[in-house]
Amino acid sequence: NKGKVCVFGSFNLDIVAGMARFPKPGESLIARNSMMGAGGKGANQAVAALRAGARVHYIGKVGRDDFGMFARRHLDSAGFDAVTLFSTSECPTGNALIYVAGADAENMIAVDPGANLTVTDEEVEQCRPAVAAADILLTQLENNLPAIEKLIGIAKDNGTYIILNPAPFQPVSDHLLAQVDLLTPNATECTLLTGIEVRDIPSAGRAAHALHAKGIQALIITLGTQGALLSVNGETQIIQACPATPVDTTGAGDAFNGALASQLAAGATLPEAAQFASAYASVCVERAGAAASMPTYEEARERMGVVVV
Ligand code: RIB
Ligand code: NA
Repeated sequence: NKGKVCVFGSFNLDIVAGMARFPKPGESLIARNSMMGAGGKGANQAVAALRAGARVHYIGKVGRDDFGMFARRHLDSAGFDAVTLFSTSECPTGNALIYVAGADAENMIAVDPGANLTVTDEEVEQCRPAVAAADILLTQLENNLPAIEKLIGIAKDNGTYIILNPAPFQPVSDHLLAQVDLLTPNATECTLLTGIEVRDIPSAGRAAHALHAKGIQALIITLGTQGALLSVNGETQIIQACPATPVDTTGAGDAFNGALASQLAAGATLPEAAQFASAYASVCVERAGAAASMPTYEEARERMGVVVV
């Protein structure tokens, strides 16, 4: 039972350097290793939804440059149902310079969203049929806000279930938040959205309360190794994190969101989908890269202790 997920979001070319430690300002530090790969929250979430079992239509925008050609090759060979890739010669393809360091394989990222910020109203209008045909629209905040708002409006008009992963944070109106069916901030984004310092499950509970007051019915606040808090109209549930040995946490949030959307589109309940997404993300952090680190459905089920035969 495969659901249909439409993912609108960024494509970035990621250049990742694995470091013994983060460099200091003014310092040149030799990396342990490096890689170039597909990234961007939108493209990562689309790959995650696909590998987790959904039929996926990805929509994004790149520059007419070498990175844009890389994007097209990557997206065309990924196995999506459909890809709508707009392009511009005004801006470079989005790119991210990423350092990964330390025992927890934490990252530090400088993103130039470039073409991701240039999606026009006409381009969004062309996406209407794709959004209407999908069970779920999954989107983030790594594009220009007016395009995101317009697309969410189209999803709302067509009764398509809307998941907004508010990453990276940018201020959004309460009107936009109220249109979203499921909001999935991490601790940082949740703090910025509510003004409540979110550090753990209890503080996430307080923030959830504040977000419900803004008209959001369902939300999942992800807390890394502390798991996640699922709150539906104020009824909360803790989703346990799965143990992992981190190698590169880049894309962990994207893994969670893509996997979540794939399961909801296939008819899973919110707690079931969130538990699966948590296992899925824990496998992702054990591998290098962003899109390249997305596991299969079977690998996430194995993490949950279920062996698929
Ligand atoms: O969420 C991870 C992503 O954030 C990376 O792939 C990078 O491109 C940045 O957008
Ligand atoms: Na990873």
